[in-house]
Amino acid sequence: MTDREAEKRLAAARAVDEIEDGMFVGLGTGSTTAYAIKSLSDRIRQGLRITAVATSRATEMFARRLAVPLVPFEQFSSVDLTIDGADEIDCHFQAIKGGGGALLREKVVAAASSRMIVIVDACKVVRRLGGFPLAVEVVPFASEFVRTHLADLGASVTLRSVGGEPFITDQSNHILDAAFGKALRPIEIAGAIDAIPGVMEHGLFLSEIDTVVVGRGETVEVHL
Ligand code: 5RP
Repeated sequence: MTDREAEKRLAAARAVDEIEDGMFVGLGTGSTTAYAIKSLSDRIRQGLRITAVATSRATEMFARRLAVPLVPFEQFSSVDLTIDGADEIDCHFQAIKGGGGALLREKVVAAASSRMIVIVDACKVVRRLGGFPLAVEVVPFASEFVRTHLADLGASVTLRSVGGEPFITDQSNHILDAAFGKALRPIEIAGAIDAIPGVMEHGLFLSEIDTVVVGRGETVEVHL
């Protein structure tokens, strides 16, 4: 296991320690969250009783394979605790998410959560957001329209693709990856993107995160 993978696993295990009997738990998406799901599954085997909701089909399949009890989020409006990864996070608990393309469901579940813990390896912690392209989920009909607006905001924009075809999200939408670099002023850009018709969601999480757990070397930092 590489150092980064070890850091992800450490952060994930620490976050899972926060889960208590009877909780309704939100499960994020990505490789770091996969470690959390594995750790949660171990605790369930030892007797922990929880119910969970998945933020993507990929997470749903993985959690089911590990016998984590899932319910469809469609029937709920609140979650006790969500554990999710991030692509970048700063010291204000503001993050870029969406590298895995699950940002829309992730943001809905985050907004429904009483507490959201983000788990990352140390290299995801940045002084300033913007090095990682910002994922923007758009209805396919509006892809080019939104791309033009994002470019006007200062981003270099690419339509995410897989094998030469547009990447399709769990909601049947497209993803535009908008590389803002130093032009990313999070609050201003989030507001501007929210105002573009055809945008379903963007990967800036500016107020949802309550706790950040960082795996750094062989230690874990918990930021509250
Ligand atoms: C998926 C996400 C992920 O949490 C983010 O991309 C981090 O993934 P990983 O843990 O694999 O680095 O936002 O939409």
